Amino acid sequence: MFDIVIWVSVSKAWSIEKVQNAIIQRLKLKVEGGVNEVETAQLISNELGGLRYLLLLDEVWDPFDIHETGIPNNDKDSKVVFASRFRDLCYDMDADELVNMKRLSEIDAFKMFEEKVGRTMKNPSIIPIAQLVVRQCAGLPLLIDKVARVFRKKDNIHLWRDGLRSLQRWPSIKIQGMDEVLEFLKFCYEDLDGEDKKVCFLYGALFPEDSDIFVDYLMECWKAEGFLPNVDEFRDARDRGHNILHDLINVSLLERSAMKRHVRMNKVLRNMALKISSRVLDHKFLARTCEGIKEVPMEEEWASASRISLMDNDLCTLPAAPNCTNLSTLLLQRNYNLMMIPDSFFLSMQGLRVLDLHATAITSLPPSLSCLTHLRALYLNSCTRLIELPSSLEALVHLEVLDIRRTRIISLPIQVGSLTQMRCLRMSLSNFGAGNPISKVISSISLLEELIIDVEPNTLWSDQVMRTITEEVSTLTRLTSLTFSFPKVECLEIFVRSSRLWKDLSFTFQFSVGICNSVKYHILDYFEYQSCKCLKYANDEGIHPAISEILTETEVFELIDHKKILSLSDFGTENFSKLRACSVDGCKDIICIIDGNVAPPCAFEWLERMVINNAPSLQCIWKGPVPVGCLAQMTTLTLYNCPVLKKIFSNGLIEQLYELQHLSVEECYEIEEIIIETENPCLDPTTLPSLKKLVLHDLPKLISIAPDDLLIWPSLERLDIASCPSLLKLPFTGINAINLRSIQAEESWWPTLVWLDNAMEQRLRPFCNFSNLSP
Ligand SMILES: *[C@@H]1O[C@H](CO)[C@@H](O)[C@H](O)[C@H]1NC(C)=O
Ligand SMILES: *[C@@H]1O[C@H](CO)[C@@H](O)[C@H](O)[C@H]1NC(C)=O
Ligand SMILES: *[C@@H]1O[C@H](CO)[C@@H](O)[C@H](O)[C@H]1NC(C)=O
Ligand SMILES: *[C@@H]1O[C@H](CO)[C@@H](O)[C@H](O)[C@H]1NC(C)=O
Repeated sequence: MFDIVIWVSVSKAWSIEKVQNAIIQRLKLKVEGGVNEVETAQLISNELGGLRYLLLLDEVWDPFDIHETGIPNNDKDSKVVFASRFRDLCYDMDADELVNMKRLSEIDAFKMFEEKVGRTMKNPSIIPIAQLVVRQCAGLPLLIDKVARVFRKKDNIHLWRDGLRSLQRWPSIKIQGMDEVLEFLKFCYEDLDGEDKKVCFLYGALFPEDSDIFVDYLMECWKAEGFLPNVDEFRDARDRGHNILHDLINVSLLERSAMKRHVRMNKVLRNMALKISSRVLDHKFLARTCEGIKEVPMEEEWASASRISLMDNDLCTLPAAPNCTNLSTLLLQRNYNLMMIPDSFFLSMQGLRVLDLHATAITSLPPSLSCLTHLRALYLNSCTRLIELPSSLEALVHLEVLDIRRTRIISLPIQVGSLTQMRCLRMSLSNFGAGNPISKVISSISLLEELIIDVEPNTLWSDQVMRTITEEVSTLTRLTSLTFSFPKVECLEIFVRSSRLWKDLSFTFQFSVGICNSVKYHILDYFEYQSCKCLKYANDEGIHPAISEILTETEVFELIDHKKILSLSDFGTENFSKLRACSVDGCKDIICIIDGNVAPPCAFEWLERMVINNAPSLQCIWKGPVPVGCLAQMTTLTLYNCPVLKKIFSNGLIEQLYELQHLSVEECYEIEEIIIETENPCLDPTTLPSLKKLVLHDLPKLISIAPDDLLIWPSLERLDIASCPSLLKLPFTGINAINLRSIQAEESWWPTLVWLDNAMEQRLRPFCNFSNLSP
């Protein structure tokens, strides 16, 4: 493809001159001594001017102008590819396209390992061990390379097994050549600007390798530890924390997990973090997580540690009074059999700032809890046997975060009200006695910024109690985030009338109104961060001004089992102006989702996701004219069990959906055409330009996806079709859907398809992944 390929390792100790020298060598140019940079650049430029070149720049550390080296801009379709660990640098270097290099998949990792090891891999009994060896390398090519070099010398299974055992204990034991890997990775760490980022990164090693760490929680720990100095308010601390997280992710020290709002630290980096922290005097970690240990580590180890994590083990007992004067974090969560904390356990832990005991079996907290005068964050959630909070709680004068959700605590002690620093309180109402369960406690916590009061689904509270709580919550003036269940719209109305906070731009809420079966927001999982405004409204009927009013601020709306409305527009289409995601489930009277006859221009302009389940009367999504700009951001549309729905894209709608990426239609028994010819005459061939994934399940009457073979389907990658027995033709020609790479279909259905041209079938067949789940 190219006249010449030039590879230059730029590396940290780079200079324009060095890059030029490498290019000169590759071009086999003769340069006499005494030639300066500019002259060399001219030489290179002359030489490459007429060639189609590919320039590969490896390991770029600093941004630079490649033209300074003499690389010319020519019109020969030449390319420059560079690799860097710093994403921001790609922007500085004006990259046209960014390719994120992920870790190798297990299959690719094994392939690479196999290639590097060579002949010894021919022994079949070695293969399973080799797979375990590769898993230790966490998909990092650099590490696979080093490890393969170590293993290629081992020519029998004993040596392999022994090697695997050593590797599993690396880096606590030395393996020749491998420390180099850690040194290499350490660059990223040492290159971080700012001690705060370094300590935040190291803290991640307290969590099990490759586990999903909840970002909001991690930030609470960072704040409690004092890693985010000079921020008092939680909201500011979270912003600062996100900033740090962003930078750590950008240099690949942490990675986003597949689970939204979670991050991960891979095994190798975690090992590195543990190693680094073991060398720093006041930063010693004792981290033994997920090891199934039943006995706590030796007390000497406790004594020297500043942070201890023994989460996810089988501990039953704890030492009586460990001497841990330097301990600031103690993580004991999910030791499900830990029933008791010795009375004097906290006696010598005055410095403790984070204590996590969630999901343990403790029934009470020991008297020595009162020694924890520096404690900032206390997690007792899901301690399902914990009956009460001790009155000594008031000694915890610095406590900022308290989580007592899903415990058996039946009353909030009055002392909680004296915790004047408390900013984040999370509790469940389910267990609180019928009297006045929070008895003026909440309103006395004047600094409270974040409040979650879970009401277990299907619990009935007297209206009087809920009204009192609502009134109390309304008096809090510093709140920035509130999660609360209003049993009836009337309670919501009290709140809407007495507190103006919810209108504040940066205020976030998760309200549920009415009795629902689940407290979870299903649709919320798609959002990166929790900080948004959500309303879940269940089991009511008609429209209500308080709902319309809250809707004006709502970004995520779930409407469940709601009766006596014909469309969402009944709440006022103009009131959905901030909506980003919406789910409508079990609303039996809804005929259309949006009524265009009352829609202003750009209605639902920010809506990204729409999910419609169980709509027995639904006839169409949009009725009437579709003003320009409506639904222009929608990326996902999911329809499930709409038994009378015939029209998905009514006249004029489809033209608006240029961002639609995923369309899923399931159990809609009347659907005959996905794109109806009569509704959509004169379709533009580029209709649905962004559609990547199309799912069609259980559509017995479906005969056509789109009229003719007109559409280009430029983005379509995946097709998933099941139980559509009447569909006998796919809308593909030899030249459209060029990105289609995966087809999920039933093996028995595929041969029933009719093809205009057999070549088409042959092109698509390799992409098929057949299932045999015939109806
Ligand atoms: C890294 O930083 C750039 C710009 O600062 C940003 O656009 C990008 O999303 C960041 N990368 C990650 C993975 O967050
Ligand atoms: C606690 O940390 C200090 C340094 O911050 C150190 O001098 C001291 O030895 C540590 N104490 C223990 C018990 O390790
Ligand atoms: C705890 O450790 C510190 C520092 O090593 C020491 O000074 C102190 O005497 C110890 N306390 C007890 C009760 O052992
Ligand atoms: C939209 O909300 C406002 C209050 O915020 C309300 O007055 C209006 O009636 C609502 N529109 C409809 C059609 O309900």
